[in-house]
Formats: sequence, structure tokens, C-alpha cells
Amino acid sequence: MSKSPNTIYERMKETVAAIERRSTIKPSIGVILGSGLGSIAEKMTEVVSIPYAEIPHFYPTSVEGHTGLLLLGKLSGVPVVMLQGRFHFYEGYSMEEVVFPTRTICALGIQTLILTNAAGGINTQFRPGDLMIIEDHINLMGDNPLKGPNLSQLGPRFPDLSEAYSKVCIETFKSAANEHQIPIKQGIYAGLLGPTYETPAEVRMLRTLGVDAVGMSTVPESIAANHLGVQVCGVSCITNLAAGLSPHKLSHQEVMEVSKVGAEKLKRLLTTVIPRLTHKGATSQ
Ligand code: HPA
Repeated sequence: MSKSPNTIYERMKETVAAIERRSTIKPSIGVILGSGLGSIAEKMTEVVSIPYAEIPHFYPTSVEGHTGLLLLGKLSGVPVVMLQGRFHFYEGYSMEEVVFPTRTICALGIQTLILTNAAGGINTQFRPGDLMIIEDHINLMGDNPLKGPNLSQLGPRFPDLSEAYSKVCIETFKSAANEHQIPIKQGIYAGLLGPTYETPAEVRMLRTLGVDAVGMSTVPESIAANHLGVQVCGVSCITNLAAGLSPHKLSHQEVMEVSKVGAEKLKRLLTTVIPRLTHKGATSQ
């Protein structure tokens, strides 16, 4: 075991203290922006932007479309923290490293974490540019961020995941989508290691398993936030039909381009949803 549990906790405290020295904002909502979804941060006001390179124990991001900025500010008047750029397991980070930024923003005191991502559509009713509210996930990454000695300062040894994605969040997103007349899907997200996209045979297997969308992120972050008792919302932007469902080959370029369409819809939704999620249990305001 390379790191003792206390060390992680101590590092989190150092990182939180460093962030709190940069801004007086006490965020109640956190948002992690997926590939190509960084422009959602344009809606923020009173922004303090901190490059990951200036945050102790953070690392540089290596993926195109993931900038590497922590933003503190307000969205629709609500204090929020946004991560523009995430760390993926396929980049070679350990699960513990993948979830370090998630744990840090939870430790800033947020009650709700909104996870966004780009994903491939497995459900044949889905089209590129659709948004899907994550109802639940299947962890197919072959690892778990809570493996190893439990960090009892953070949460229990065996966390319950029967509501890994809060029902209140799901209903809040659905009613906001309805008000904005933005069609929205709902379904199961499977997190795979990557970095290869799936084979058509894997996509058929995932459909048999009841998966609607597939990606390479989100699952570790959801687990880490649930461990800390933070309620989680997840939204996937369907950027492409998964392998074998589309006549052309998959590319990160396509993912980046289509996610811009999703980002515009998601921006509108978040301005409505965020004020409603500041009070746990409230679905409308
Ligand atoms: N598979 C896995 N991850 C993805 C995909 C996909 O088809 N599209 C965007 N992220």
C-alpha cells in the first residue's frame, strides 16, 4: 500500500485550504464538466479561476477538451465550484488520483455534485446531441476508488449505492427540461476503462446488460461523492452512436464537435436546475 489513509485526508485538507485562500465563495453545488462541455462555465459570474497547476496535489490534464481549471463563482446567484477538466483512469492515474479533485470539491462543503460527460449512445432511440439523465450506473472499469483501507473520516466502509444518482436530482432535471422544452432521455450509464472505444460485440453485450450510454468517466466520481454523503446528479451528452451502430468510425473530434450542441442545452438547464438543488429535497421553487 503506497499511501496511508491519513495521508489522503491530510492532502485533501491542504488542497481545500489552498482553494479557500483564493476565494471567499462557499460553494453549495459542484459541477464537473465533461469533454467539450467546458463552455458551460461561461454562465458563471464573479469568477475566480484557478489553474490546476496552482492547486496543491492536482495534476495537469492531458486530454484535448479538458482545460484544467477550477472555477469558483456564482451561477443563477448560487455559489458554485466547477471543474473544467477531469482525470481519467485510462490516462494512467490510480482511482485514488482520479477522484482526488471530486473529494476536494465535496470537502469545500457542496451538498450536490452534478457530473457531466460525453457518452456513446447504446439505446437505439438515442441520437447524437441528445442529453440523457443518468438514472444509475454499471461499473465496468475493473476497479473502485474505495478499494483499500477505508477512509473513515470520509465515509463508511460499505457505502449504500441504491440511489447513486439522486431521485430528487433526476426529477428536478426532468421538470426543468420540460419547462425549457428540451427533449431529455433517461437511462443507465456504463463506465468502461477505455481509452479504446468499444467493439461492436461489446456494444451488443452492453445493450443486453441494459446499458443506454457508455463512457470512460463519472462512475469513480459518483462513488467517491456518495461515500462522502454528497447527492449526485449525472447528465450524459450523447455525442455519437456507439460502435457498430453508426456507418462511420468513431473519433474524439466528432465527440468534441457534437458535445457543443449538448453544452448549449445543458447551459440552459443548469441555470434553472442549480437554484432548485440548493435545498435538498426541493424539486421546484
Ligand atoms: N464510447 C466510450 N466513451 C465515449 C463514447 C463512446 O462511444 N463517446 C464519447 N465517449
